[in-house]
Amino acid sequence: CGIVGYCGPKSVTPILLDGLKRLEYRGYDSAGIAVEGSDAIKVIKRTGKIQDLRAIVSVNLEGHCGIGHTRWATHGGVTDINAHPHLDASGKIAVVHNGIIENYTALKASLEKQGVHFVSETDSEVLPHLIAYYYQGDLEKAVRQALRQVKGTYGIAVIHLDEPGRIVGARYGSPLVIGVGDGEMLLASDVTAMIAHTKQVVYLEDGELVSLTKDTYTITDLNDQQVDKQVDEIQWDLEAIEKEGFACFMEKEIFEQPESIARTLSGRLDLEYATGKLGGLNMTSRELLAVKRIKIVAAGTSWHAGLVGAYLIETLARIPASAELSSELRYRNSVVEPDTIYFAVTQSGETADTLYAMRELKRKGARVLGICNVVGSTIARESDGGVYTHAGPEIAVASTKAFTSQLAVFYVFALLMARMRDMSVSAGQRFVKELQGIPEKVREVLKQRDHIQALAKKYYKARDFLFLGRGLEYPVALEGALKLKEISYIHAEGYSAGEIKHGPIALVNEETPSVFLVPRDYLREKVISNMKEIKARKGPIIALCTEGDAEVAAIADDIIPVPAVDELFYPFILIIPLQLFAYFCALELGRDVDQPRNLAKSVTVE
Ligand code: G6P
Repeated sequence: CGIVGYCGPKSVTPILLDGLKRLEYRGYDSAGIAVEGSDAIKVIKRTGKIQDLRAIVSVNLEGHCGIGHTRWATHGGVTDINAHPHLDASGKIAVVHNGIIENYTALKASLEKQGVHFVSETDSEVLPHLIAYYYQGDLEKAVRQALRQVKGTYGIAVIHLDEPGRIVGARYGSPLVIGVGDGEMLLASDVTAMIAHTKQVVYLEDGELVSLTKDTYTITDLNDQQVDKQVDEIQWDLEAIEKEGFACFMEKEIFEQPESIARTLSGRLDLEYATGKLGGLNMTSRELLAVKRIKIVAAGTSWHAGLVGAYLIETLARIPASAELSSELRYRNSVVEPDTIYFAVTQSGETADTLYAMRELKRKGARVLGICNVVGSTIARESDGGVYTHAGPEIAVASTKAFTSQLAVFYVFALLMARMRDMSVSAGQRFVKELQGIPEKVREVLKQRDHIQALAKKYYKARDFLFLGRGLEYPVALEGALKLKEISYIHAEGYSAGEIKHGPIALVNEETPSVFLVPRDYLREKVISNMKEIKARKGPIIALCTEGDAEVAAIADDIIPVPAVDELFYPFILIIPLQLFAYFCALELGRDVDQPRNLAKSVTVE
């Protein structure tokens, strides 16, 4: 979910609606705003997207202070009543909430005993009632008292009719940022909602509460101790989150990858010493040399990047490495050894599964490094060090450029670790040159746009797809299948090409296409055998192969040729056509590419 709030001289409604539009990637099943009028708090909310809300917001919703919310349902179905903001019984207090109130059943029962009538099915509705219960003329105090009763996670914004021009916000487990403007203040789940107004921001930490007016903000903890915090400046402009002539954000982000990968690599490769430079790791050479094991935790697309990373690190640096899903690691009593380092990989830096896995590891004494895209995000701040991917804001829900930038970080890190062990200078220099050349090769692959669109037109009616690869290309196959599922809703399975004979081959018939990743690498012959197994069962094949590979072309029904690179570098080159293929299939099917059903970009609940 996403939260936004504004206090200042301007008319609040358009600011809230524009802010919510920017936050829509965080959830988009319903939305609402509450605006402080002179004699009442006016709430407008409904199911649907921000554009649907915009359509019913009347012009007379005038005011200078208000809060808004875009929802990704957890407790309670997607209905107008369950949409936020929620009001207390008097209608004077309005609350928007991200997160989950775990003890809401108990809180609700005790409030109901006192005669409070609940109107929605949400956990969030206990908040306005609880705040009203404690309210005695001081909203900040009442919010603090209410939150002391709450178990669970929250990012909230609250207004009270009797305290016009004030917003109280608080955070525990759901991000919240203050935007410090000139005679105006904002509060939001992330900076994209406020960048049009100010670049000066203050990040709240868990357990902190803010009370803001148009000119002031005070931050305290739940024990009412004042907290002093630094003001950060956002380093990018509004243009970075605009579509710039592309039909949608996903298309823009796919085509931006030559630049975003180059940004990730910038200043991090040293050709003379043939190594990588990652100062943010906060580790001395001695400490890096002492590392005996590397474990990567992540979710979704970031996990796929982690799988590639683990393979690469182990191959090049000869250090055992593995990647695990955060949601699994968190609840497994995993062994944390002193000479192991962990990487938490995340675009948003806010994914609850990854954040809690990281905290669990840190509790056991682990050193956890972050690989994050969003600067100042929770995981970036709580990790012991790490690397920013610098891919720039990624807005489309399906991750593309963040993935290739995460890969780029792992390539630099693997090089750094390998060069401290047994990789020679000359091998290191070849590696650096190859990596520096990747943005250009990606640009070449992008030129196949029309060919890939034609293939999408030919295949989009299939109900099931298999995506198959081996070695480094196995995680790429998983990612290709995930992309197709996410945005086109076509069922797709990513599998190791070597494993299909153990089960999935039963799915193969004339109507189930297989997408093979079969570049010129040491596994090519093996994958060709796997292709033949599929062909023998009449399965259509689309093969992604190195240019000029006549043998693969002869077996496949269709090919997408890609430029030759060193065999370790194909993940960068092969994921691009798969992103485009998913994109064009989704277009054929008329899907909402940037905001696919049921998903959210940043999932801050478990
Ligand atoms: C969500 C998104 C995925 C993303 C995953 C992990 O489920 O829909 O696209 O890969 O979260 O997100 P993160 O921000 O941690 O990389």
